Amino acid sequence: MIKKAILPVAGLGTRFLPASKSIPKEMVTVVDRPAIEYVVREAVAAGIEQIILVTHSSKASIENYFDRNFELETTLEHKKKFDLLKEITEILPSHIQVISVRQPQPLGLGHAVLCAKAVVGDDDFAVLLPDVLVKDADSKNDLFLMMQRFEQSQAAQIMVEAVPDHLVDQYGIVDVEQSPAEGESVVMQGIVEKPAIDTAPSNLSVVGRYVLPAKIMQLLEQTPKGAGNEIQLTDAIAMLQQTEAVEAYRMKGQTFDCGSKIGYLKAVLHYGVEHVTLGADFKQLIKELDI
Ligand code: G1P
Repeated sequence: MIKKAILPVAGLGTRFLPASKSIPKEMVTVVDRPAIEYVVREAVAAGIEQIILVTHSSKASIENYFDRNFELETTLEHKKKFDLLKEITEILPSHIQVISVRQPQPLGLGHAVLCAKAVVGDDDFAVLLPDVLVKDADSKNDLFLMMQRFEQSQAAQIMVEAVPDHLVDQYGIVDVEQSPAEGESVVMQGIVEKPAIDTAPSNLSVVGRYVLPAKIMQLLEQTPKGAGNEIQLTDAIAMLQQTEAVEAYRMKGQTFDCGSKIGYLKAVLHYGVEHVTLGADFKQLIKELDI
């Protein structure tokens, strides 16, 4: 089974300035916890046990968040604030390992994934892009279903969702003969990074969740710079697809693009109204706005 997930978190978050000027965009709070925690929890819920952060010198607070904080824990213990103590020590189950490697230069998503090569070794792995939060109603989340499908078919899984035509040039877009039903995978004919609408093969966009075979690392080593003059993961997947089946998995959950300000606000609303202790009051506040 797949146990490793790469989370590229080295990006500087220019779409989220000024909030991301002096804190990582992944640490911006969605309700009462940083956005990155939702992504890590999604991976853990799917069965991932090793989180590999591909990170940058300015982003130590992400590693600190998933580490223990002895001083804080001791203070909470002395003050008998045991609920808070439990909360901060149980952010992740104890069997989860968080490992970080650096991406020394911003050479693209494909390059970021390649930076984790030594940690991934010969294992197949998942990739989760941290800007997008995926909210699933089921306990078997989309990533779990992709990993399960990979185990059965041995075909790489690329999570997709339909986007309006005017947005296709912002995403990787897949070419499929027939659009898969939600929760299902179909073999794809191709994949292209940020095509113009008149050349786009479909409106099925790559969401930012991938299950990939270990051999993609060798392909990434050979991938030349592509769209935006960056080494694109999409181009390595297109190469993989020349020699073996790669499948597009159509998600059933809901996405929130927290890399954009409006997507972020939408995420706060959706996660806020469902929050265990704050949800009811938050709903009431929204009603009181009366707009
Ligand atoms: C990256 C990928 C793209 C994907 C997108 C999802 O692009 O290269 O294929 O559709 O993430 O968010 P970026 O948003 O980093 O430009």
